[in-house]
Amino acid sequence: MDITTQPALETVREILGQCGLPADDIEPGFLACFVVAREGDRDLGVAGCQVFGASALIRSVSVRPDVQKRGTGAQLLAAVERVAVARGATKLFLLTHDAQDFFARHGYVAVSRCAAPAEIQGCGQFGSACCGAATFMAKDVGG
Ligand SMILES: CC(C)(COP(=O)(O)OP(=O)(O)OC[C@H]1O[C@@H](n2cnc3c(N)ncnc32)[C@H](O)[C@@H]1OP(=O)(O)O)[C@@H](O)C(=O)NCCC(=O)NCCS
Repeated sequence: MDITTQPALETVREILGQCGLPADDIEPGFLACFVVAREGDRDLGVAGCQVFGASALIRSVSVRPDVQKRGTGAQLLAAVERVAVARGATKLFLLTHDAQDFFARHGYVAVSRCAAPAEIQGCGQFGSACCGAATFMAKDVGG
């Protein structure tokens, strides 16, 4: 399996749709901060980040249901964390409905939404209705 950056927008939308994650707000300009896992001629999963200075929102970590639990999610998460760090992030945040245990195993801890920096609170996903009930998690990556 190879992990590269800049997946096609259709790929991101298709995989997010299969995983029940929102894709409506993803713009072509975001794709430079997305990674994709590819095996043969098939894209298995994607992950993205939005970086705001020292803070980054990790988002859209998704693996096609038929190939989950093979370590692809862990590799995608590590790769997108590297993208965020390379762009200056020292603190990572994310919202998740169902994958708290997965992220906890990778160093994220649940925190109050009040702890979110203003730039994270201001981004579209944070304020969207579908994420209102999601768990907010954070991870320090240096700085
Ligand atoms: C969360 C998600 C991305 C994980 O993807 P994944 O490819 O299954 O992730 P991994 O295989 O690295 O790890 C998943 C589990 O499989 C286990 N696993 C990894 N490799 C394995 C293997 N070879 N054999 C058996 N189990 C394995 C891991 O221990 C891990 O356990 P955990 O969930 O208790 O931590 C995936 O479940 C998903 O797309 N969910 C829907 C979208 C979502 O909710 N995303 C999060 C919001 S951003």
